[in-house]
Formats: sequence, structure tokens, C-alpha cells
Amino acid sequence: MKSEQPSKPRTLSLIAVLGPSGELGMRNGLLWHISEDLKHFKALTMGHTVIMGRRTYESLGKPLPGRSNIVLSRSGKKLEGILRDLNDQPEVFIIGGAQVYHQTIHLADRLYITHVQAPLPAEGADVFFPPIDPLQWQETARQDFSRGANFPYPFSFVTYERR
Ligand SMILES: NC(=O)c1ccc[n+]([C@@H]2O[C@H](COP(=O)([O-])OP(=O)(O)OC[C@H]3O[C@@H](n4cnc5c(N)ncnc54)[C@H](OP(=O)(O)O)[C@@H]3O)[C@@H](O)[C@H]2O)c1
Repeated sequence: MKSEQPSKPRTLSLIAVLGPSGELGMRNGLLWHISEDLKHFKALTMGHTVIMGRRTYESLGKPLPGRSNIVLSRSGKKLEGILRDLNDQPEVFIIGGAQVYHQTIHLADRLYITHVQAPLPAEGADVFFPPIDPLQWQETARQDFSRGANFPYPFSFVTYERR
């Protein structure tokens, strides 16, 4: 009997930092810089493959060190093929941006979300995370902070697993 090849990594995780209404960014940049969140992101993704959209890659300006970086562009390989090629990996991270989150949340097994309870910058946001449907996603871990060392507003690291 022919065994079926898995079509994606064992765990496909989306990781993002969101404002109170799912705000992700403005003018191809982030809304806040929270040093604790940057450390959290690094600790989770280090050594793994990260997948991002071309615009997010441009906003970073260089590959993330210590991780295998895959940048999606319509002129490149298809997302489905990329995920199939990574099917031997235990956990792969989708790191944005909005277009890529919207296209992959239905495939994801886990979400690592930093929820930020802070006022938005004056310009607001122009990209948003898709809704996290509580019927599909169960909160499995949470760490709350009343503020960061250099960030005067509350934020939480929340993990969701697909039900
Ligand atoms: N808050 C957070 O956690 C977080 C994380 C990451 C990014 N962001 C923010 O999100 C914003 C960027 O998001 P965005 O939605 O504008 O752009 P994006 O998702 O980063 O990149 C979009 C580009 O990715 C490529 N692409 C998208 N879907 C594809 C597919 N199925 N196959 C192949 N290529 C595909 C296309 O590139 P081509 O045009 O080259 O074809 C498209 O223009 C920025 O503001 C950034 O700061 C926030």
C-alpha cells in the first residue's frame, strides 16, 4: 500500500503581536517595539524555519539569524509546495504579514499571539490579523505582564491550539 506523504510540517504555528482589535502594522512597519516580545519571538523561533511574505521580509531588511528563512513571492514557489517540502520538520513558524496570516490560519495547528493593550499610534493600523474564532481555537497557555521594562502598557503571551 502506498503511504501518504504529509502535506505540511507536524506543527504549523502562526506567531504575531496584535493590538486590541487585531492590529498588526502600519505602512509596512510594526506598531510597537516591546523588548520582552522580541525575546519571546526569538526563543520560540530560533533553530526553526520561518516563512514570511515579501513585504514583511522587506520590513525586516535581512534574514533572521539562526533560522532558515523562506520568503513568499508570487514569482517564487507555491506555498503548498513549500509546506510539503517541510513535512519532516516538527514545527515551522509563519511570521507574517497580514496576507500570509489570512492565507494560512486555516492550516495552522497553533497560534502564539502577543495581545497588546496599548493605544494605537496616531496613524492607526492598515493591516489586521484574521479573527481568532473561539470555537476553533482553545487558549492553552497565558503569561500576563502589567508592563514591560521599556513599554508602559499591559501585554500577554497567549498560546492557542486548534480544538
Ligand atoms: N504584528 C506582527 O506580528 C507582524 C508580523 C509580521 C508583519 N507585520 C506587519 O504586516 C505588514 C506586512 O503585511 P502585508 O500583508 O502587507 O504583506 P506580507 O504578507 O508580509 O507580504 C505580502 C507579499 O507576500 C507575497 N505573497 C503573499 N501570499 C503569497 C502566496 N500565497 N504565494 C506566494 N507569495 C505570496 C506577495 O509577494 P509579491 O508581491 O512579491 O508577489 C505579497 O505581496 C507590515 O506592516 C508588517 O510590519 C506584523
